[in-house]
Amino acid sequence: MAADRIAILGAGSVGCFIGGAWAAAGLPVTFIGRPNIARDIAANGLTVSDYSGWQVRPDEVDYRIDPAALAETDIIALTVKSGATAEAAREIAEHGREGALVISFQNGISNVDVLRDALGDRFEIVRGMVPYNCAYLGEGRFHKGVAGAPLYAENRPKTRELADRIGGGPAALDLSDDMLGIAWGKLLINLNNAVNALSGRTLIEELRQRDYRRVFAAAMREGLNILSRADIRPAKIGAVGPRLMPAVIGSPDWLFNRVFIKRWRIDAKARSSMSDDLKQGRKTEVDYINGELVALAERIGAEAPVNRKIVGLIRAAEAGAKPVGPAALRREVLGR
Ligand SMILES: NC(=O)c1ccc[n+]([C@@H]2O[C@H](COP(=O)([O-])OP(=O)(O)OC[C@H]3O[C@@H](n4cnc5c(N)ncnc54)[C@H](OP(=O)(O)O)[C@@H]3O)[C@@H](O)[C@H]2O)c1
Repeated sequence: MAADRIAILGAGSVGCFIGGAWAAAGLPVTFIGRPNIARDIAANGLTVSDYSGWQVRPDEVDYRIDPAALAETDIIALTVKSGATAEAAREIAEHGREGALVISFQNGISNVDVLRDALGDRFEIVRGMVPYNCAYLGEGRFHKGVAGAPLYAENRPKTRELADRIGGGPAALDLSDDMLGIAWGKLLINLNNAVNALSGRTLIEELRQRDYRRVFAAAMREGLNILSRADIRPAKIGAVGPRLMPAVIGSPDWLFNRVFIKRWRIDAKARSSMSDDLKQGRKTEVDYINGELVALAERIGAEAPVNRKIVGLIRAAEAGAKPVGPAALRREVLGR
């Protein structure tokens, strides 16, 4: 019997990197995405690379723009932005094979609920997580900004089989029984995305300013309190556990800039994807990051003034408001 075919639904930055690495490892992959990327790959081929200098070009790339291709696949890796999940779920419902495995590799928490509400138990829906940055560099090239770091997905028989087929390459898959904790742990780190987007600066320039870090640390501290009240334990992502993170992030410049920032090996030009979304006039994923905390706070009768304020500022930025300097952002969000 032929090995299960994998669809990458929403083949953009993350999807083309993951799918390209899996295809180069010999897995049958069908990419489903947009005409601009289909044209680029048809003209230039697909090249995937990582920070270590690793680079591959899968021989054959099956890139489609018609979701009907889902009917030929048994595993669907969902890599659309969170705002596009409901539409993707409708396409899966219409074209997908009954019983197919759907892995949400998106940021945020509620995408999996949107999928479960739309698809019920006709599909096996699991949470995944991408712990690294993937960038589309043009000319069919997709780049992972770090070396190492596996993808994550819920530990199930089908994901175990998939992880074995992928093997140990740069898009390797690790399995966890605590994907909700991992998703919240990642979300806490992603709280910097909005601060970075509001700053209008590169990640390095932004993180070097303590006032921006104070806002990030306050958003994280508020998030930790809400999660604790909701009995949710965020997992440790990276070297520092979530409880210690606000202290590290809010530490004085002399310490943070000399010690911590170097360990994070951030590319000099890197910005958060929310920053890129603002620049390109697209709606951001703020509702699925800071907004998830605001929604959780509402559900448990708690307050989330810092994250609520940040969501409002991103809304204003989406409508054209200019970047905000470090002290002004601190005053605006923290009121001091
Ligand atoms: N990029 C990263 O470094 C990174 C890292 C970790 C996690 N993530 C998460 O991964 C998810 C994807 O991010 P990304 O940066 O890869 O986004 P992206 O580059 O915008 O890729 C998504 C692609 O899917 C397309 N798409 C949307 N709906 C579709 C549909 N129904 N059928 C086919 N294609 C569809 C989009 O086209 P349109 O633009 O026309 O909608 C876009 O080309 C997000 O949740 C993000 O937070 C990203």
